[in-house]
Amino acid sequence: MPIDPNFPKKHQITGKFKDPLSDNYYLVWGPGRLAEAAIDPKVKSDYQASGEEIKALGVHGTFVAVDWDSCIADGICLLSCPVKVFEWYKNPGETGRNDRKDYTDKANPVKEANCIWCMACVEVCPTKAIKVDQANLEIHEKEIARISLN
Ligand code: F3S
Ligand code: F3S
Repeated sequence: MPIDPNFPKKHQITGKFKDPLSDNYYLVWGPGRLAEAAIDPKVKSDYQASGEEIKALGVHGTFVAVDWDSCIADGICLLSCPVKVFEWYKNPGETGRNDRKDYTDKANPVKEANCIWCMACVEVCPTKAIKVDQANLEIHEKEIARISLN
């Protein structure tokens, strides 16, 4: 079940976060659904070991969007991105393929603004969890401006 290409239309914004290491803001879209991560053996085993429950996490980012319910922490997107858009959610600032905390970790597109639209991440992700779409940049800018006014 790859990322829903229409996620901005079908989901609500459930969060707005700032990258602590830059001026970038990114949005989270929810509610999400249980998908590949909930059935992947390595992900399931690490959730069990950590005592954390597997829950729907939604889509993180807007014009570089990662469906965290489909992300199985493979990490090849981090390795492939020439401009280091992604870092590990549970190891902030770490951008190496194997720098994940464990397989409950997720690729966080905290530096969306750096994207040069090369599409490498989209092509290599084994679960097709990533959608990159220049058309969604406008949605991102509009929503960030709207939320900032509230
Ligand atoms: Fe996750 Fe796919 Fe990257 S599984 S870590 S989004 S390559
Ligand atoms: Fe990087 Fe993917 Fe953009 S590889 S440059 S985030 S299209």
